[in-house]
Amino acid sequence: MTHQHFQTVEGVLNWNAPLYRLYEKAKQNGKWNPRDIDFTQDKIDYENMTEDEKITIAPLIASFSAGEEAVTLDILPMVQVMARQGRLEDTMFLTTFMFDQAKHTELFSRWQEEMGLGDLDLSAFHSDSYKRIFYEKLPEAMERLNRDDSPNAVIKAATVYNMVVEGILAETGYYSFREILKKANLLPGILQGIDYLNQDEGRHLQFGIYTIQRLSIEHDPSFNIFNDFIDELWPDALGVIEYLTSLYDLQMAQDWTESKLQLDSEKMKQYAIRQYEIRKKQVNRGSSYQRVSELNESMIRNNSLRSS
Ligand SMILES: [Fe+2]
Repeated sequence: MTHQHFQTVEGVLNWNAPLYRLYEKAKQNGKWNPRDIDFTQDKIDYENMTEDEKITIAPLIASFSAGEEAVTLDILPMVQVMARQGRLEDTMFLTTFMFDQAKHTELFSRWQEEMGLGDLDLSAFHSDSYKRIFYEKLPEAMERLNRDDSPNAVIKAATVYNMVVEGILAETGYYSFREILKKANLLPGILQGIDYLNQDEGRHLQFGIYTIQRLSIEHDPSFNIFNDFIDELWPDALGVIEYLTSLYDLQMAQDWTESKLQLDSEKMKQYAIRQYEIRKKQVNRGSSYQRVSELNESMIRNNSLRSS
């Protein structure tokens, strides 16, 4: 690829591009450093937890660590698509996205190290559904962008990456982690980290929603590519959650289990189902626009994308 022209030589950045606004927001709100989180109390709590309680949270840790690592490694082709297509503001936003993901990966690894779990292989906690999404579908959809940056390929990549992995699975993960640990008043350091992650993920979701809407308005006004693909992925997404709740239910059904940790399995499943429904609704809202310019205007007009 050669460059034919430069936007910031011929003119300036588009300060009103939705993703430029999101980039401003990321610079403002994404300043936290995993290294600054104090895990002293987490260490005390973790040492005092029973073996069963440690086992209760291990599958969640295993899901988060691999999930964050996967999205850190797999985002690159999306950045390249936006760069190749001359979308400068989108590319700039994605530099913050990549940095966020790197910090998320660092957070869990640092926590595992400090809890003395550094050498423990937790991959046995990855279910078949988990593997299909994180080991196969996600990298396949992202890797396809290296050869194919058609609207179809980009919509599908954003669907699995932003809507399913981030919008359904990560959100449900944060919810259950908070439910378990806040009730038990344990591990405040990792909970603080989860709050930061959650805020970052809000921006990542906005990127995904916008990108899918933008491409669908132009190339797939029925929004079928998105709707069909999220529906296709949904059974495995729910499968990830059902596996985690089944492990918990099985553990709690044993009368020898010593654990004060509480998780409402049904509530966790319902939460995941709600995320699935919300993501579909959010993206499909874009189908009311005939042109991308209308979508852009409405984003700037009504929401949180203001840079200040
Ligand atoms: Fe993310």
